[in-house]
This record gives sequence, C-alpha cells and structure tokens, in this order.
Amino acid sequence: MNAMPTPMFPLHVRGLGFAPAGNEILTDINLTLETGSFTAVLGPNGAGKSVLMRLLHGLLAPTSGTIQWGELETRPQQQAMLFQRPIMLRRSVIGNVAYGLHVQGVALSDANRRAQQALERVGLAHLAERPARVLSGGEQQRVALARAVALEPRILFLDEPTASLDPAATRAIETSLADLHQQGTTIVMVTHHMGQARRLARDIVFVHQGRITEHTPADEFFKQPRSTAASQFLQEELP
Ligand SMILES: Nc1ncnc2c1ncn2[C@@H]1O[C@H](COP(=O)(O)OP(=O)(O)O)[C@@H](O)[C@H]1O
Ligand SMILES: [Mg+2]
Repeated sequence: MNAMPTPMFPLHVRGLGFAPAGNEILTDINLTLETGSFTAVLGPNGAGKSVLMRLLHGLLAPTSGTIQWGELETRPQQQAMLFQRPIMLRRSVIGNVAYGLHVQGVALSDANRRAQQALERVGLAHLAERPARVLSGGEQQRVALARAVALEPRILFLDEPTASLDPAATRAIETSLADLHQQGTTIVMVTHHMGQARRLARDIVFVHQGRITEHTPADEFFKQPRSTAASQFLQEELP
C-alpha cells in the first residue's frame, strides 16, 4: 500500500521580506493559506503583489523569512503559475500544452493524452491542432491555463490573468477557475477586477506599500474592509 502523500497545506508564510540591495519591496509578510482556498490578492499598482506571487511560486528568493509548505521539507512540485501575458511556443496548441509535461519528464504519448484532457477542461479541444500563435489573446490565455492544468497542480498562482482580455474571454477563464477550484485546486490570484474577486474569491489579501494590511473573508471585505488602505482603495475602484 502507498503511504499518504505528505500534506503541503497549510502554507505558512512567516516574516517574509524581499529587499534586494536594501531596497524594501515586501516587509514582514505573514500569511496562512489552507487547502482548497480561493484567495484574491488586491492592492494598488506597485504594492508588491507580483513580487509576492513570485516569492510564493519560488521564482524569487526571499531576503528574509520563511515559506513552509505543510509538513514538506522542500517546495512542492505540484504548483503552477499563470501570468498576464501568455507565452506561446511556435507549435500547435496541443504541442504547447504537452511541452510543460515533457519538461517534467512525462513520456510523449502520456503527455499528449494529458494535454488533450487539459484542453477539454478549458473548452479548447477543438483548437488542439492550430498553431498557437494565430489564436486570439483570450484563446492563448486559455492555452496557458490548460498548460498549467495539465501539470495537475494542487495550487495555482495567477497574476492578473484577465487584465488584457475582453469580457467574453475573461468569463471563459473565470468559468475554468471556478471549475478547477471546485475540483479541489487551491488558487491564489492577483486581480484588478473587483467584480472578479467578488465572483470567485473566498478570502482577500490586501497588499499596500509592501505589507499585507488585512486577510479577510471576501464577503466581509467587500462589505467593510478592516484596513484604512483597503477602504480607500475600494472607494476609488468601485463605481
Ligand atoms: N525582481 C525584482 N527585483 C527588485 N525589485 C522588483 C522586482 N520586481 C519588482 N520590483 C519592484 O517591486 C515593486 C513592486 O512591484 P510589483 O510586485 O510588480 O507591484 P504590483 O504587482 O503590486 O503592481 C516595484 O517598485 C517594482 O519596481
Ligand atoms: Mg503586478
């Protein structure tokens, strides 16, 4: 019998700081994320949201503090990240999705099968053989999402994934994210769309000047945020 996998949640961030060359970008970040959560990260431009996501995903190394994944000794593999602008390789849609799996050492036939399934999950199976670079921006972002999904991540980080998409493409991404979350994927997403945060997120992390000013259940946050910074931000953002 196989042993149960070592739990990678809760994610505990303690005293995290990022200050390259003494330039303080993030300061004393403390955050706990539970398995199955859907967290929206909000805050003004330049607050440090993208840096925080890169630290959590391991693309940047903190200059202080720790990130502890459940009982794991090291950062788990089962995570993926989506950026504002997708990067498409000069190959077919399915080739783009399978590529991420190749890199992880998955055999070709297996990679293609899993890529096909991922495309079905995001509603793009009919475009599998198209050259990825001729697709619209919205379709390309869904290919990028399929590429992430194919990795079967337990946590998915997204940094403003719909910032450059039209409303229809945004809805398609939101539908896929809701579906992934329902299937058990933990999600952390930076967004500038307050409506999107309201529709999808269960809890809100607000970042202001390199610090988290609050981590609040979404319904409470949108009724009455706890921090002055978030209060001001919402007044400016909401119509
Ligand atoms: N890799 C990096 N090294 C040093 N400074 C960075 C790095 N990435 C971003 N910054 C700086 O950190 C600050 C916060 O940036 P960012 O996280 O992109 O803000 P946000 O995503 O909230 O708009 C900015 O002043 C930016 O110039
Ligand atoms: Mg950003």
